[in-house]
Amino acid sequence: MPLDPQVARWRERRIADSVRPLYTQTLAEARAADLAEIQAGTGTPEPVLEVRDLSLPVAGATLPLRVYRPSDAAALPALVYYFGGGWTLGQIETCDGICRTLANAAGCAVVAVGYRLAPEHKFPVAVHDCYDALGWVAEHAGELGIDPGRLAVGGDSAGGNLAAAVTLLARERGGPALVAQLLVYPNTCYHADTPSLRDNDDESMFNRRSVDWYWGHYLATPADGTDPLASPLLAADHAGLPPALVITAEYDPLRDEGERYAESLRAAGVPTECTRYDGMMHGFFLMSSMLDGGRRAVRQAVDFLRARLGTQPDAEPGAVSLADYEARARAVLPSQVWDFAAGGAGAETTLRANRQALDAVVVYPRVLASGGRTDSRTRLLGTPAALPVAVAPMAYQRLMHPDGELAMAEAAARAGVPMMLSALSSCPIEEVAGTGVALWFQLYWLAERHALVRLIERAEEAGCAALAVTLDVPVLGRRLRDVRNGFALPAEVVAANLTDGSGSRAHVAHRGESAVAAHTSALFGSALSWADLEWLRDRTSLPLALKGILDPRDARRAVDLGADAVVVSNHGGRQLDAAPASVAALPAVVAEVGQACDVLLDSGIRSGTDVLRALALGAAGVLVGRPLLWALAADGGAGVAEALALLGTEVQESLILAGCSDLAAVRELRTTQEACR
Ligand SMILES: Cc1cc2nc3c(=O)[nH]c(=O)nc-3n(C[C@H](O)[C@H](O)[C@H](O)COP(=O)(O)O)c2cc1C
Repeated sequence: MPLDPQVARWRERRIADSVRPLYTQTLAEARAADLAEIQAGTGTPEPVLEVRDLSLPVAGATLPLRVYRPSDAAALPALVYYFGGGWTLGQIETCDGICRTLANAAGCAVVAVGYRLAPEHKFPVAVHDCYDALGWVAEHAGELGIDPGRLAVGGDSAGGNLAAAVTLLARERGGPALVAQLLVYPNTCYHADTPSLRDNDDESMFNRRSVDWYWGHYLATPADGTDPLASPLLAADHAGLPPALVITAEYDPLRDEGERYAESLRAAGVPTECTRYDGMMHGFFLMSSMLDGGRRAVRQAVDFLRARLGTQPDAEPGAVSLADYEARARAVLPSQVWDFAAGGAGAETTLRANRQALDAVVVYPRVLASGGRTDSRTRLLGTPAALPVAVAPMAYQRLMHPDGELAMAEAAARAGVPMMLSALSSCPIEEVAGTGVALWFQLYWLAERHALVRLIERAEEAGCAALAVTLDVPVLGRRLRDVRNGFALPAEVVAANLTDGSGSRAHVAHRGESAVAAHTSALFGSALSWADLEWLRDRTSLPLALKGILDPRDARRAVDLGADAVVVSNHGGRQLDAAPASVAALPAVVAEVGQACDVLLDSGIRSGTDVLRALALGAAGVLVGRPLLWALAADGGAGVAEALALLGTEVQESLILAGCSDLAAVRELRTTQEACR
């Protein structure tokens, strides 16, 4: 396949920035540039329970070791990890990010080894350093809190080569016993004559000249290249080596030798998984913060390690309420992303009020009225819906999960509920529409009219069933968590429907400023007027919803200009922090326009009971926001599908408990709203 689009963008940036190939730099320059690039690719290092720096005396030197422990369990299995860098570049810091990730995700200790580099130390110094470090870990397992019976080795690139060489030495010398080897695009053969080595000659990426340059530093003589400890593929026999996962990249000169090594292991009876990542290039495993392919490969490595090291997590009990996804999402999301989604504006008074006000809605059930059955089907904005529920528009869902809006849409389609897609979606409208979901498109009023018109046309052409305009964002609310975090979008998450993605503005972090807010201010027109909405009403024949209305006078104007629905919303407490809880504002809006258009409600809906409350107060339906993001983060599309199925069950049960055989009966229920703003 062609280069993955994310890799292609990365490559274009390198060309635009005139990044020089490492092999044209001095050693000192190349070592610094390699480290900087890898650190940028792995992203912010995650916290680990314990990180210990140790020194290991070996013949003629002292090697740094770093031990990462994700938990205080007495005897953790361990992965001994060797960084890449062509035996020439690299240090413990090079693999700091990936070691943290693997330790946390695989539930094992990880020991990074600071082996000696070429050309100062030629082959086989690095191999022996790596083997000695493994031996030391096995010998000192008790002190390190490591289980010596569950040791694995792994590494990327030259680190993968060293890991493979160490398995050969360990077999030859009768230990330490190894239960797994993780080889990420390893060098396995000096002067391999392979198509991948011949074909990959792109100067802007790792290429065959890079490969030659590193071997040139590593080997004292070409004859050393035939030693199986330098070229593990040349070992006479691969039987008895530990089970392996070999990861390769399509656009990597080392691809074929990695795959040949996997074949050779398999032929010798070693259980071996080998996966080629199409469209990816050498180095992608350490670029999780930029490349979905990198994230997938790391997940695969984690699954492999968990299976081999015996750290499979206990099966999580299924979620029994939407709230259960919140803790799961928090555990997997980077803290700044969590804050971006969970947070509200200002002191988060309105955010809290949404929940308090919903809790304060009392619904008086009828008895002997439903016959124990109910029908929750309805139409919202003219779109059939299995439940009086739609997915709220939420920007940048690929922050939560690489599948982003596509997974959300597939799950909504399965549940039979419409999805309102944000103008700031991180997947293109056309692709989301392709899932078959009943799609509504939410517009922000872009400052550039031609860009806005193009968005409307695309939504119409993609078959969206309705348009919505969000009215409550003249500027982005001041979300203090994002300001404190200096929150910026990672490179791989862009506003996929805008011609310039999210521009560079949303991606450049500045202390004390939310880059997302700065980008939004630049993008949106703050002077949206009723006249603009009239223009839109004339421009499209699609049903039109206006979102972010709290005052009945605004609801009346919306209806007068021809809106088919209003969404009573305070944006989940993310805009004006003095705004009322949406549910507190609902009855007055229903009284004003409930007969003339659909009144939808969002902000704080967390259960079937909340849906019942909203409907009993006169809403035609609700939009659900954050809980679906949490489910997406926790388990991708499967998580959202499960969450929506759970919500469906809750809605049905609430209706039956309230004695309602259909949604019309809910609107006849008596309610009171107590002690809310
Ligand atoms: C992370 C996030 C992104 C959002 N992005 C948008 C958006 O792009 N357009 C929009 O109209 N509303 C957006 N909203 C607001 C939601 O549509 C909805 O009004 C709100 O989330 C409902 O509150 P809840 O999360 O408590 O259910 C966003 C909300 C969150 C949490």
